[in-house]
Amino acid sequence: MSERSTLGQFDSQTTLIPAGAGADSTLVLTLAMTAAATVIFLGVMGLVWLAWRRERPGHVWWLWTGGFALPVIALTALVVGSTFTLASIGKVERDALVIEVTGYQYWWDVVYDPDGRALRDANEIVLPVDTPVTFRLKSDDVIHSFWVPSISGKMDMIPGRINELTVRATRTGRFRGQCAEFCGLSHPLMAFEVEVVEREAFDAFAERLAGEARDADTLQLARGRNVFLEEGCAACHAIRGVAEGARVGPDLTRIGARAALGAGMWRMNVGNLAGWIADVQDMKPGANMPSYNHLSGPDLRAVAHYLASLK
Ligand code: CUA
Repeated sequence: MSERSTLGQFDSQTTLIPAGAGADSTLVLTLAMTAAATVIFLGVMGLVWLAWRRERPGHVWWLWTGGFALPVIALTALVVGSTFTLASIGKVERDALVIEVTGYQYWWDVVYDPDGRALRDANEIVLPVDTPVTFRLKSDDVIHSFWVPSISGKMDMIPGRINELTVRATRTGRFRGQCAEFCGLSHPLMAFEVEVVEREAFDAFAERLAGEARDADTLQLARGRNVFLEEGCAACHAIRGVAEGARVGPDLTRIGARAALGAGMWRMNVGNLAGWIADVQDMKPGANMPSYNHLSGPDLRAVAHYLASLK
């Protein structure tokens, strides 16, 4: 388990240290609800204590106060507060950057600027800080739910529907996202990483994403690329400039640059890549990819090195 994922930091996946406008207001609402619930609890316990002591209050004022006035005031305040918070979180902003994310069992297809340049990536999302971003959320199989606890509330991804979620990250850093709707055997292994960077770094990232895969410039990398093509990997995975068009599995054009392998689950390195290819059904049970355990050691090593070189 020590090899598992990249994100050991305390604030990597928490609602208690917000890094986005939506997560901020959600935390305020949570604290307000907890405070209100505490007051109501103490009030009710006070009444229980009075009854226990059999002190007859004489009037029924305490019944009206504790049983009617207090709950009406508290619940009205909570309904108003949560309604306004929800409305402010869901608000669509014009000129927001659009990122389309499609959920699959058990990974995420990510397309930046889907109506324009349509730059495709997978399982990792880079966001510019202090910029409104609208996620256009879809699913191509079952219901998933898109959730980056540090940045915003969650939103379901429903087949045949497009749900929109606008977020604004308020500080740079790496944050973890997680599928929040049970979607099958490897639902808990369906995570992703969000990297929030300055605007210039984001633009540079988008430029890199618009390019083609790095050339295989050594014998071993060329051998790895041939194994990739001969074993039919390109039937499911695209690598820009090498094998394009396939959408069944994650785009691999910059897989070596990602921090994690297997949708946020494993550290990205040659060893994990080789293990994944040889025995994916052990590392992610139920994944829509067969284990390639018939490859020879040198072939497996070559293709793992080739994929790790794609950045
Ligand atoms: Cu996808 Cu749970």
